[in-house]
Amino acid sequence: MEGARVAEAQHVTIDRIWPDPAVDLDDDALASELLVADRMLRVNFVSSADGAATRGGLSGGLGDAADKRYFELLRRAADAVLVGAGTVRAEGYGALRVGEESVRWRVAHGLTPHPVFAIVSGSLDLDPSSPIFTEAPIRPVVITAAGHDTSGFAEVADVIEAGEGQHIDAAAAVAGLRARGLGRILNEGGPHLFGALLAADVVDELCLTLAPSLEAGDAPRITAGELPDPRGLSLAHVLRSGSTLLLRYARERMDGHHPEEQQP
Ligand SMILES: NC(=O)c1ccc[n+]([C@@H]2O[C@H](COP(=O)([O-])OP(=O)(O)OC[C@H]3O[C@@H](n4cnc5c(N)ncnc54)[C@H](OP(=O)(O)O)[C@@H]3O)[C@@H](O)[C@H]2O)c1
Repeated sequence: MEGARVAEAQHVTIDRIWPDPAVDLDDDALASELLVADRMLRVNFVSSADGAATRGGLSGGLGDAADKRYFELLRRAADAVLVGAGTVRAEGYGALRVGEESVRWRVAHGLTPHPVFAIVSGSLDLDPSSPIFTEAPIRPVVITAAGHDTSGFAEVADVIEAGEGQHIDAAAAVAGLRARGLGRILNEGGPHLFGALLAADVVDELCLTLAPSLEAGDAPRITAGELPDPRGLSLAHVLRSGSTLLLRYARERMDGHHPEEQQP
């Protein structure tokens, strides 16, 4: 992903269509409205107009310059970036590092220079000698189930144990990050991890880039797995750059219940 949705981040015009229409918003305006709460779990995906989450097996082909710019701003406003190991492997993630402008903005807003990179893996099929760990500007976190041998990561990462066997308890994973003071969590996918977070009902927001393309084929959607019932969303904003829409939804909670508040 360092080569896909991130590397080409550049300035491209982004307008707000709803609410409060405004043209050519600057990075500060866009990022500031993402710092809405100290504790929240935001999810970010790009999808084609017909629901494909990948092109040629990767997300990068779907994202244009506006998506890449906003992708960086979402990281700018996060304490931790949470990613499933499937996405880390498929997209070839390197060390998670925001740009210099983002570092300046973060420090001025009382955040650490870079967000913590947190990777969810049941199999621990991750290489501790990869740049993800060896070039990390801030010590990453590996989240796995209890009982695994995590000694290979002792030098390069902190480990959070959440769940048993191959199944990681998504609510416990989020609680483990929160216990480290990482309140603003950004999940960059993938579909299986998003599905697990939805099933655990710990998702507060979805930022969805709707790419102006039709892909057909059998690409995955942005969610995978089973949900006990559909999750409602309410629209928080609509940004536009050319024919690309950058949508932000809040998770609608009919009962006002926030499950993670019950976590220690
Ligand atoms: N359109 C977009 O914005 C976007 C964003 C992200 C990814 N993607 C695409 O999505 C595809 C990858 O999909 P994916 O669903 O495999 O990605 P994923 O959710 O990132 O990865 C699944 C893997 O993550 C770990 N994992 C996640 N949740 C778990 C849980 N509850 N319990 C145990 N392990 C868990 C497991 O790793 P282990 O196998 O190590 O146990 C599992 O195999 C790629 O093609 C990628 O390009 C698209």
